Amino acid sequence: MEYHSLMYLTVAFLGLLSQCLTRLTPRVSFPMGSPGRLLNRFSSADVSNTTMLLLSEDQNTLYVGSRDAVLALDVSQREAITMKNKLDWSPSETDLEQCSMKGKKMSDCPNFIRVLQFLNATYIYACGTFAFSPRCTYINSKTLTMTSLKPEEGRGRCPYDPYQRNTAITVDGELYTGTVADYRGNRPVISRHLSEGSHVDLKLDDTLGWLEDPTFISSSFIPSEEKIYFFFSEVGREYDFIDKFIVSRIAQICTTDVGGQRTLQRRWTTFAKAQLLCQSDNELPYNVIQDVVTLPPPEGAPADDTLFYGIFTSQWSVNSGQSAVCSFRLSDIKLVFSGNYKVLNRDTLRWSTRVQEKVANPGECGLHNASDNTLRFVKENFLADDSVRPVGRSLTMVSPDQYYSHLVAQRVKIANKRDYTVLFLLTESGYLHKAVLLEKGAHIIEEVQVFEKPQTVKNLQLSISKSMVFVGTSEGVVRVPTANCSFYWNCVQCVLARDPFCGWDPTRRACVDATNTEASLGQDVDTGNVEEACNSGPLITRARFGPNKLPPSTCPAGELVSVSLNEVVRLQCPAASQLARRVWERPNSRLSPDLYLNLEDGSLNFVATPATLGHYLCVATENGYQQTMAIYQVKQKGSPTPQTAASANQPQTHQSSVTHAAARPGMPTSMVNWPKRTETRQRETQPKLPPSNTRVTTGLLGRDFTMWAEESGKKEVQLRNGESLLLSRGPCYLKELVVVSVLLVLCFSVLIMMLLYTIKQRCRSRTAPQASTPTRDSNRGTSVEREALRGSQSVRNKRNRQAMHSGQENGVVCSEAPKGSNGHLPNTPF
Ligand SMILES: *[C@@H]1O[C@H](CO)[C@@H](O)[C@H](O)[C@H]1NC(C)=O
Ligand SMILES: *[C@@H]1O[C@H](CO)[C@@H](O)[C@H](O)[C@H]1NC(C)=O
Ligand SMILES: *[C@@H]1O[C@H](CO)[C@@H](O)[C@H](O)[C@H]1NC(C)=O
Ligand SMILES: *[C@@H]1O[C@H](CO)[C@@H](O)[C@H](O)[C@H]1NC(C)=O
Repeated sequence: MEYHSLMYLTVAFLGLLSQCLTRLTPRVSFPMGSPGRLLNRFSSADVSNTTMLLLSEDQNTLYVGSRDAVLALDVSQREAITMKNKLDWSPSETDLEQCSMKGKKMSDCPNFIRVLQFLNATYIYACGTFAFSPRCTYINSKTLTMTSLKPEEGRGRCPYDPYQRNTAITVDGELYTGTVADYRGNRPVISRHLSEGSHVDLKLDDTLGWLEDPTFISSSFIPSEEKIYFFFSEVGREYDFIDKFIVSRIAQICTTDVGGQRTLQRRWTTFAKAQLLCQSDNELPYNVIQDVVTLPPPEGAPADDTLFYGIFTSQWSVNSGQSAVCSFRLSDIKLVFSGNYKVLNRDTLRWSTRVQEKVANPGECGLHNASDNTLRFVKENFLADDSVRPVGRSLTMVSPDQYYSHLVAQRVKIANKRDYTVLFLLTESGYLHKAVLLEKGAHIIEEVQVFEKPQTVKNLQLSISKSMVFVGTSEGVVRVPTANCSFYWNCVQCVLARDPFCGWDPTRRACVDATNTEASLGQDVDTGNVEEACNSGPLITRARFGPNKLPPSTCPAGELVSVSLNEVVRLQCPAASQLARRVWERPNSRLSPDLYLNLEDGSLNFVATPATLGHYLCVATENGYQQTMAIYQVKQKGSPTPQTAASANQPQTHQSSVTHAAARPGMPTSMVNWPKRTETRQRETQPKLPPSNTRVTTGLLGRDFTMWAEESGKKEVQLRNGESLLLSRGPCYLKELVVVSVLLVLCFSVLIMMLLYTIKQRCRSRTAPQASTPTRDSNRGTSVEREALRGSQSVRNKRNRQAMHSGQENGVVCSEAPKGSNGHLPNTPF
């Protein structure tokens, strides 16, 4: 034991050290109401706490257990979710009175449905908390009416308290549950109900501590094993050197169990439990299981390849707010259950691993005729000595900043190719993350906001045949399509998304569903290699422009930005992805950090001087692939324009979004000599403003400001938040002060960076495929903007870029496809 505790402390210490996890940034973020990800929502004023979700076999009807009601929702229509039927099932006035007399809050006394399972083709079995006096009933699934059968007592099937977690599953018309079976919530039990004939109802023998204050999470039936697995967390009594150490468990029972004849009469003879470890070597375990989902093996593979994906969090505050996903293979679980068992000393109630002669195999099915001796042995040996370790002995993914609470998993098979595992993970903050599991780790394809206020109880349900994920919360039911491939408007975006659901169809020139097609699509989920995936189609050539598009020789010179000298100019660069890094370039000149300020939102800020007039180009790099996101031409107001026709209707704004840039038809050609790749250094802190008569308090250059305009005579700088600051002319030592401050800050930064780098080197093996992306919060704000820009962004791919470079010689700058009249950029052929 001492050795153990020492080990444990070491592990805990290492865990503390390794808090250098890489952030997993979703590539695209869709806030609530985003047009790129349209959700259907069902909510109704008299329906709340819609948290139990049950899909009909044809997946056209979603049964919902809510407060005082069971609903049947029609989810077969693409446009909307409608209510087919509603069954009201609420406690009577007297029941409610009694509930509140027992000292319960009135808001907790309604009937919260906590069990909703198909019993057979006609009946649904439902249980509710029913004013802290649980009831169960049979419901006709077609008519959604209760049968003439009287509601049954729900004790042992459903918790009393609506905040207690429970699990239930039906197999062959029998109900298997894990719940607390008393009012106070301290008699946990795993039991079987609705059994008939010699198949008697069974429960756990409660003389020994089979369960230690468990929180039931989920249950899963594996037909090939004739076993039901229960997942829960409980106090790990075997770790008696740590106070109340929570462990996650998997327990098993056999559906063929009928109890013993004398010993263990009407009790499980097949109960066994083992610890589930979600931990990688030398790190603090994620010890508290939150949700588990079963992923059946791929077609043709043995049942032993069944995987269980679980979300785990930690009991300790050092990694609070973090969560991990681990997967466990059925074959590993079986191995642990067939191994040795710990021995419980009945006097001290302590566990030891003393090797005991094996009289029987605990957890083995078919012990009904076994001797008392055998049954006594299995009764006392139910905790497996070994723990179930995750697949690959490592974590599937870790999120340092997201607390995941629920998940569903799907195997996505790509035409003629391998399959990928996609996880949908619900965050505490209300986002649904879609992650694809790759060899190098998880890649979060996107996040979709599904609710705004934090929800105490939530549920997820996946409809594979309808390609939908349902989210149930207190507010209602939300339906999220598993993918929206048409959001990706060109091959580059389609491939960079690395979404197994989506592939680029070169003939239709669209990003399409890749799961139900035999066509060969441009797709590279593993590495997102655009050049290969987008060149593969024989039909794709750059010259393929639509009939309404301009010949390649006419191309825009970029959006015109008219400025006055000494004015501060801000050029926007849209981001197609949160993983893209944006860099500004100018032809024939370097972007000196002394003159240019690159903000975190991707914009370029500078003061207009004769030297800074001219062309600007924003290039986004993602996954090693470059795309031109925007082109601008900055010119002095009133000076003659080469752009005759187009310049007339240029909006006179410096924050011109790229909506207009480079994509307007009729833009004349101009020659621009783009330089070799120049890099601007990211300088977020202290910009050095150009040599002009303007001096600015640089400290105010936060990321909040949008534009400054110094009008001649008035020495004011306008800030977005209405603040203005006076500028002083004449001698001032501010500049010197700033320089000194910058140097100081830089010194400190370098020191800290060096420190971080050394630490980071040690935790390289983490899941993030893309490191060092901007923080989530800073991105959140721009996603609406991205969304808006998305439809009309002018995006060039690398080949177009190359064309631009090579075009220098023959006077052709670029060949941008023009914008369609509806304001949307047509899918640019690759
Ligand atoms: C998919 O994305 C396209 C393009 O943004 C959008 O028009 C469409 O409404 C989206 N569809 C869904 C179902 O979200
Ligand atoms: C479904 O279960 C109910 C209740 O056990 C039973 O009365 C009924 O006959 C069953 N129906 C079918 C079609 O098996
Ligand atoms: C158990 O014993 C009973 C009689 O004692 C017998 O009828 C039954 O077939 C036996 N079951 C098994 C699985 O051996
Ligand atoms: C029911 O929903 C309300 C919010 O609408 C929430 O405050 C309450 O905690 C929920 N109750 C249960 C038992 O989940």
